[in-house]
Amino acid sequence: VDDIGFFEVINSQTGVTRYKPDPVPVDAIETILDAATKAPSGANLQPWEFIVITDPDMIRQVGELYRETWLDHMGREPEPDEGSVKGSARYLAHHMSEVPAMILICIDHTRGYGYKPGNPIVRDRHGASIWPAVQNLFLAARAVGLGTRLTRVHMHREAELKAMLKIPDQVETVCLTPLGYPAQPFRPPRRRPASEFTSYDVFGNRDNSSPG
Ligand SMILES: Cc1cc2nc3c(=O)[nH]c(=O)nc-3n(C[C@H](O)[C@H](O)[C@H](O)COP(=O)(O)O)c2cc1C
Repeated sequence: VDDIGFFEVINSQTGVTRYKPDPVPVDAIETILDAATKAPSGANLQPWEFIVITDPDMIRQVGELYRETWLDHMGREPEPDEGSVKGSARYLAHHMSEVPAMILICIDHTRGYGYKPGNPIVRDRHGASIWPAVQNLFLAARAVGLGTRLTRVHMHREAELKAMLKIPDQVETVCLTPLGYPAQPFRPPRRRPASEFTSYDVFGNRDNSSPG
């Protein structure tokens, strides 16, 4: 894999919905999971768990659950004015069962503070200890030429997904991403400029030339 620069990665990492059918090499998966586990976590407790799904039958089952959940929540038929953001999510929903691989990123609550065995888990308690790992994973995937997309809609039927993948009670699912080589070139993120969101010294002062 050719090394590409850090800012080239940042400026071309967006959600991928169309994948080539080529399988994802185990080496590449290990590289991106290694990057994920370099992320910070509260007290360095490293509560992450990654479920790599490559078995086509399992991908089909998870993909079908994803599709049905997405359609139930986002609408079975597109509205006439459906925009490209929702349209691409809809495309993925219809094709999630055919992606070459998936990673389900989870948190094991026994590796976070405040969990007593047998108690129900407090969802999102350790969110700040997982999202940096998710972003590391996505950036590393882009760096080795692999596409991803952050999805959460499975949460509406999380119990079924957990049963399918034999995930124990103390493990919370956080994010499901497809993984594979993109069928189209990576594109730059469509975002408003940082200057619109940045204040200097006091909230709302957008003037970066004010004396410091
Ligand atoms: C919290 C969160 C939940 C998301 N859930 C879904 C989802 O369920 N399905 C999906 O296709 N995309 C999902 N997305 C992807 C966003 O739609 C996407 O990041 C956004 O439109 C920007 O797209 P881009 O990065 O490709 O430019 C989610 C993103 C976030 C941050």
